[in-house]
Amino acid sequence: METLVEHQISVAGTDIGFGCAEGDTLLRSALRAGLSLSYECNSGSCGSCRYELVEGEMRDRRPDAPGLSDRDRRKGRRLACQSEPLSACSVRIGVSAEPAIHRPVRQTAQLREVRPLTHDMSEFVFATPLPAAFSPGQYAMITLPDGSAERAYSMSNVGNCHGNWRFVVKRAPGGAATSVLFELEAGATVGLDGPYGNAHLRDDDRPIACVGGGSGIGAMISIVLGVAALPDAGDRTVHLFIGGRTVDDVVLPPALELAARRIGSLHIHPAVSEQDGADRETGHAFQGFVHQAVVADLGDAVADFTFYAAGPPAMTDALARSLVLERGVDADRLHFDRFC
Ligand SMILES: Cc1cc2nc3c(=O)[nH]c(=O)nc-3n(C[C@H](O)[C@H](O)[C@H](O)COP(=O)(O)OP(=O)(O)OC[C@H]3O[C@@H](n4cnc5c(N)ncnc54)[C@H](O)[C@@H]3O)c2cc1C
Ligand code: FES
Repeated sequence: METLVEHQISVAGTDIGFGCAEGDTLLRSALRAGLSLSYECNSGSCGSCRYELVEGEMRDRRPDAPGLSDRDRRKGRRLACQSEPLSACSVRIGVSAEPAIHRPVRQTAQLREVRPLTHDMSEFVFATPLPAAFSPGQYAMITLPDGSAERAYSMSNVGNCHGNWRFVVKRAPGGAATSVLFELEAGATVGLDGPYGNAHLRDDDRPIACVGGGSGIGAMISIVLGVAALPDAGDRTVHLFIGGRTVDDVVLPPALELAARRIGSLHIHPAVSEQDGADRETGHAFQGFVHQAVVADLGDAVADFTFYAAGPPAMTDALARSLVLERGVDADRLHFDRFC
């Protein structure tokens, strides 16, 4: 029988310790142990999981990760999402008291169906043996069948006991992962590790604005479906902003019709940045970037909302600037994990 090697990790200056299985990362093993660390992308790009190694040996999965600057590297900083312990280690890292709602689990997922949504986006449906335990707005890490790449994708459904995981994926030109994913056939198996992410639906009574750019629409559909499943859905107000370059990039999945029947007041605002969408048969679209549609359409009421966002970093950064810096929205009421 194979013996599972586990390295003991201690957090310097605290009495916190946890085990990390060989091949797992510092970040993921801490989350699996029920601890809460600062992170966003889980991919080495955002830099929010930086820490210092005090003692022990770590393998760096992505030595050139953009999440670390030259200055960070000179100062000996590392990324918890890219660090695989090779021995017992002591680390200096912030651990907060708020544990994750769902601990991430690694399993194998089978592709059931691929449903084309636009010219470059499809919804992928996977099934796992264990229930799909996650909160609306979270994401999972998908590993290609040959193990050559692992990427983050947000669930576009809600948690369920059937092990059903849906993802809206946009094909990236020449992309290492998406060029393989879009060629997979039903029955193919991938690695699925999750859930991850902090931009999940919160329990508050405010009206909700969901802002999705490009493939970020998947995470926002999950949030809308999550609101539709609340016992007081009939009293809720949700504004869903969907951004794309042209109306052909803006997708309204059928699941939204179901949500519209349960949510008291659901408003859908398409926004297109590259053509006069108002002239097209598909309905009236705001002409401009999706963050501009948010401030234009919500007006002075913008201060009353809780915001969820998903999409390219340029979109989420522009939204954060215009809401928090220009409109004075409390940063704690804007939730997103950068797609970087
Ligand atoms: C939190 C989060 C949620 C996301 N949700 C979605 C979604 O719902 N739908 C969707 O279409 N896309 C989503 N993405 C983007 C997705 O993860 C991929 O970046 C995208 O599909 C392009 O991948 P690619 O390999 O085809 O393209 P490529 O151009 O080959 O890869 C580029 C992306 O891969 C990352 N990358 C490169 N090397 C590595 C490495 N060694 N390890 C880890 N990452 C690496 C880069 O940071 C870059 O973002 C999400 C990203 C994040 C961070
Ligand atoms: S760089 Fe580690 S979570 Fe983004």
